[in-house]
Amino acid sequence: MYRLFFILLFCSLSLTTQAAPDGARLYELNCSACHGLNGEGGVGVPLALNGFLNAVDDKFLFTTIREGRPGRVMPAHPSLSDAQIRAIIEHLRGWEENRDEVTKRQYRQVNGDAERGKTLYGGYCAGCHGSNGEGGHGTGVTFSRPRDLPIMPPALNNPGFLNAASDQMIKRTLMEGREGTPMRSYIKMGLNEQNIDDIVSYVRSFEKTAIHWKPKEEQSPVLTQDSDYSVEETVKNIQRAAIGKNFRIIRVQNLEEGLFPEAEQNKKQVVVYFCNFNFINKALSLDPRIGLFMPCQITVYEDEAGVHMMTINPQYLSRVYNNAELDQACEQMSNVYTEIMEEASL
Ligand code: HEC
Ligand code: HEC
Repeated sequence: MYRLFFILLFCSLSLTTQAAPDGARLYELNCSACHGLNGEGGVGVPLALNGFLNAVDDKFLFTTIREGRPGRVMPAHPSLSDAQIRAIIEHLRGWEENRDEVTKRQYRQVNGDAERGKTLYGGYCAGCHGSNGEGGHGTGVTFSRPRDLPIMPPALNNPGFLNAASDQMIKRTLMEGREGTPMRSYIKMGLNEQNIDDIVSYVRSFEKTAIHWKPKEEQSPVLTQDSDYSVEETVKNIQRAAIGKNFRIIRVQNLEEGLFPEAEQNKKQVVVYFCNFNFINKALSLDPRIGLFMPCQITVYEDEAGVHMMTINPQYLSRVYNNAELDQACEQMSNVYTEIMEEASL
């Protein structure tokens, strides 16, 4: 009887927590890994800065959380309810000071000339945000950004950003800067309000050229190819094909080497490791986590059905990271694997 009572009590308690989503908890679960538990930033930009929170309205935060920044690291959050997103926003606002004062301070409406803005953008902004507003390179993990930049400059030609940001918000960011980040006040840097309006109009014009993100295709976790040759011949063919594509063979070893005593190893499972240092360096500068699936490797094995080649599909792995550049590198890698395996089976 008592037990039933406690179960009912427990259920009703968990119902109440569902009715009023806990912003702090939701933030911890969905955001803190990138933005830091206290909004101090990490892979994601810091969110607990007054300069940032003062500059943005709730619509900006809502749209950014809902849509993410397609092709950048910031993910979309399609499965959070509107109420959950609002609870997260309230949690973020808890870090802000003097909001009331700020919302009263409006700048005059933006009335700019995008052509003039383009020239100013090239001189003042392109160095960090990219000449087409594509943002800093890489994924923001420490090694993938320049040493002197503690934060990755966000992409400005991003549909997620452009949908979220009002002209006023962009203007305020340029007028006031974001204290505590490399983004400075361009009034203090010597521009006047008209110059800033011109730049805002130019940034707005990215809407016409913004790259629209296509949803990622389903990918198989592994790439496979059958071979009509023996295991030994297939291994040789892979080596030849890899060298033909400017890879260096690192080693060829039994899959079970080191796992089982020599005599008990299955000799019909062989791994070919190979590497192309140019490619690796380029990929690592995008994101050091790419190192997890280096060096390149193809496994050859034989079963009742014949001889097969198999490798992990880099495109499958890159789906976890919402980053267009990384996707491109991984697509290139998947294509090379497929070509090498096809060539080895000819
Ligand atoms: C996988 C890492 C990651 C996760 C998870 C993540 N973010 Fe982000 N977020 C980023 C990055 C990186 C950016 C910068 C966008 C760019 O580079 O273009 C960003 C940008 C933002 C911005 C815009 C900041 C600005 O200066 O305009 C907001 C707001 C934001 N994130 C809030 C959140 C919230 C709230 C959550 C959880 C619901 C979340 N993010 C989850 C990585 C992440
Ligand atoms: C020294 C590098 C640097 C320069 C130069 C620079 N920015 Fe930034 N900018 C940043 C960084 C880093 C951030 C992210 C700040 C943050 O964490 O809130 C930022 C943020 C922004 C944002 C807010 C984006 C968002 O997602 O909320 C806008 C808009 C912006 N910059 C526009 C410009 C324009 C326009 C110029 C030229 C007048 C410019 N920036 C010059 C580094 C720079």
